[in-house]
Amino acid sequence: MIGVRSGAPRRARLAALGAHVPERVVTNADLERMVDTSDAWITSRTGIRERRWAAPEEAASDLGIAAARRILDDAGVAAADVDLVIVPSASPDHLFPSTAALVAHAIGAERAAAYDLLAACSGFVYGCAQGAAMIEAGLARRVLVIGAEVMSRMVDMEDRSTCVLFGDAAAGALLVAGAPEDTTGFLGFDLGADGSGGPDLIMPAGGGRMPLSSATARGDVFLQMRGAEVFRFATRAMVESIGRLLDALGLSIDDIDLVVPHQANARIIDHAAARLGIPAERMFNNLDRYGNTSSASVPLALAEARDAGRLRPGDLVLMVGFGAGLTWGSAVARYEPREVRE
Ligand code: ACO
Repeated sequence: MIGVRSGAPRRARLAALGAHVPERVVTNADLERMVDTSDAWITSRTGIRERRWAAPEEAASDLGIAAARRILDDAGVAAADVDLVIVPSASPDHLFPSTAALVAHAIGAERAAAYDLLAACSGFVYGCAQGAAMIEAGLARRVLVIGAEVMSRMVDMEDRSTCVLFGDAAAGALLVAGAPEDTTGFLGFDLGADGSGGPDLIMPAGGGRMPLSSATARGDVFLQMRGAEVFRFATRAMVESIGRLLDALGLSIDDIDLVVPHQANARIIDHAAARLGIPAERMFNNLDRYGNTSSASVPLALAEARDAGRLRPGDLVLMVGFGAGLTWGSAVARYEPREVRE
């Protein structure tokens, strides 16, 4: 990527989508054989029926590479023409090198800058904001944003309160510069963070505060969550973030063709739908088959909505995420797949 601003400012467009999930399906019945849980508990408390787990040799970059290839196929764009690869991930291959650099290398995005982004389940929306900003600043023309997660590696398989919730996947989008006269694309974002809730959803060890070598308790090396606190935060953050963004854009929820929320818990999604008056046919939900795939969840839902004919060219889509940090993010964009232009 060469950072020289040129020409008139361009809007960033949501131009292509793609996803890849690992082959192994883990049902609630499978989990019943691993921890003290039941299909009835998981289904009624979360809405999750099954999730995917990566094979032992697969890491986030492997899933991300497969998703990236699908996105570029969908767009008809060559990897060599990508300027920037952003990989939001809470379960990257390593602290460094970045998973994004590994993905960019593997797909042949040789001119691209690449970096990871850590905003947990809000990561894809944050990544879209960054990609769109780079395009609109004239610093990039084609940006891949790929949420890539192996959350099954981050949870303690002996902790029934978390291990049943998460799954593995990679999914993302290609953002491209629109024509100078375009007035659509990404219309706006609402992003935020409240670090006072950091301890509510935390991976204590593995960073500088508690290097892995100094971790002493089993729980330190796994995701820890205060489920009820996160639940309260999520329901509030989702409704407020959507409300703020729609107000700022002068839109009402009725202007939105499809709402694609982070897939963490069906009760959180149902609460937001009820509060905001979103009818079921305009709220996308695939949580039952994948569980919470963190930063892959929103783009995985977008790609499936597209495949199911629920997200159509020209539709105005509202995405919303929330997660560790605590963070939240909403975006409104018009989905314009057939207009990848130079
Ligand atoms: N199977 C059976 N019983 C269980 C299980 C399980 N898998 N997990 C917990 N329980 C038990 C608990 O031990 C508790 O038993 P007790 O009353 O005897 O102590 C009982 O079920 C109720 O537990 P609660 O935690 O009160 O259950 P709740 O209805 O709050 O649901 C849940 C828990 C599903 C985790 C909920 O709090 C939630 O969804 N929170 C938000 C989580 C979330 O969205 N996290 C992701 C954020 S995004 C990101 O960035 C990763």
